[in-house]
Amino acid sequence: MKIALINGSPRHKDSASAVILQMLKRMLAEENEILELYCATPAFAEHDLKQITSCDRLVFSFPLYVDAIPSHLLRCLSQLEEAYSAKAGSKPAVYALVNCGFYEGSQNSVALDIIKNWCHKAGPTYGQGIGMGGGGMLLAISGVPDDKGPKRIVYEAIKTMANNILAGASADNLFVSPGFPRFAYKLSAEFGWRKAIKENGLKVKDLSRRM
Ligand SMILES: Cc1cc2nc3c(=O)[nH]c(=O)nc-3n(C[C@H](O)[C@H](O)[C@H](O)COP(=O)(O)O)c2cc1C
Repeated sequence: MKIALINGSPRHKDSASAVILQMLKRMLAEENEILELYCATPAFAEHDLKQITSCDRLVFSFPLYVDAIPSHLLRCLSQLEEAYSAKAGSKPAVYALVNCGFYEGSQNSVALDIIKNWCHKAGPTYGQGIGMGGGGMLLAISGVPDDKGPKRIVYEAIKTMANNILAGASADNLFVSPGFPRFAYKLSAEFGWRKAIKENGLKVKDLSRRM
């Protein structure tokens, strides 16, 4: 089976989207042909579109932007919609992994609905989505074994999705928050923002400056 893993983060390899896709890839790589792509470049090249539309399954992994999907991903979805309308034959099943900065995975439900609506319009079958909270932490703990510690809850959701991908099955969306207390996640996020703003030559009070 041919599976496209499409990373929709502009941060490419240094992104939570990439960490999540690599976890999924480790579950699928045996006996399947895996195609890995980024969609944050200006648009998909003709060659990429041909490759993607020849796949049996598409998996999008991307960050939540303003409660929705990033605009570059929207552009790539429009391209794919055109490519599918020009191509006869069976359409793939689509799966989506959305991660966000807030703690609660349920923040991603509208973004998953957008992918589901796109499937309805463009022809593929919507398989399943996972909404994940605490995306910043996933990147920080990328070196932790997949099924251990705070990564375990994410691992189990991805494992469920991997089985559905292999079976071509559709299932209800899953929502997961980090396996880490909410107050500790908030404290470490605030520490990170204070550090980042100083590194960028501004003051902590600038974090609350109104534009
Ligand atoms: C322009 C922009 C908009 C964002 N909007 C949201 C949002 O609405 N809700 C949220 O929880 N996180 C939001 N975030 C945070 C990202 O979803 C979060 O940092 C994510 O983990 C980044 O994933 P990546 O490393 O795969 O790019 C936003 C980030 C950016 C840059």
